[in-house]
Formats: sequence, structure tokens, C-alpha cells
Amino acid sequence: MSGPSEATVEELVAAAAAAREQAYAPYSGFQVGAALLAGGRVFTGVNVEIASYPISVCAERNAVAAMVIAGERTIDAIAVVTGADEPTPPCGGCRQALWEFGREALVVCATTGGARTTSTMPELLPGAFGPESFRPA
Ligand code: THU
Repeated sequence: MSGPSEATVEELVAAAAAAREQAYAPYSGFQVGAALLAGGRVFTGVNVEIASYPISVCAERNAVAAMVIAGERTIDAIAVVTGADEPTPPCGGCRQALWEFGREALVVCATTGGARTTSTMPELLPGAFGPESFRPA
């Protein structure tokens, strides 16, 4: 299976960086933007922090929610952009959420400074738990 083109990856990184500007992260000060490709369309998300910290939501999962609301169910690629020195990998919970809809997805983690890493989902979540783990295929 062929992955997304270089141009598509660039488009996703740019969309994630633009979305990141809207992140609401007054508590951590760590703004995250995500942009995913599904059904040929781009869906973005940002982290939204809440004063009751545990109910805050990561950028990746907000992008997944936008995709699901639009009726899409398969992630082809996702870019995550932060302002850290090194690219920030998705947290464990987001890896599980991405696995739900994007086992084949390419995951591009980038910084506003231009650093970048690219991973596959099995690399990020080896031995993943999924629906086949608790019900017959
Ligand atoms: N965050 C994300 O948005 N995505 C991740 O995968 C890692 C963490 C957010 C959550 C919180 O708002 C801030 O980054 C610091 O943890």
C-alpha cells in the first residue's frame, strides 16, 4: 500500500501548525495541533485543557472526533505539531484512539522549528488491543 505523497504530508503539517495556534492550553502552556487525512479531506484538532485537568482532551483525539462527526472512519495519515525542541509522539491514549481508525496511518510528528519524525502505527503501539481482542472477528 502506498502512503501519502510528500505534498500531502506537507499539507497536513501546515494544517496542524495552523490549527495549533488555536490550542487552548492555559495550564500546561503546551500547545498541540493535529491534522489528519480521511476520505480525501483534512480534519484538524487542538488540545483543549480544562481547569479540572483530567477531562482535558488531546489534539489528536479532537481531530478524530471531527473526522467521525463528518462521517469518515479511516485515517490515512496524521500530523501532530508542537513547539517542543524535538517532535512529540502521541500519548498512549491517543495511540489507542488512532489505532481504532488508522492502523495503516502514517504518523508524522513535527515541531514548529522544522524537526520531524515519521512512524507507523504498529511501531507506536506494538501488540495493540483492538476489537478482535475481545470478540470474534
Ligand atoms: N497533548 C496532546 O494534545 N497530545 C498528545 O499526544 C500529548 C499531550 C496535550 C495534553 C495537554 O493539554 C498538553 O499536551 C500537555 O500534556
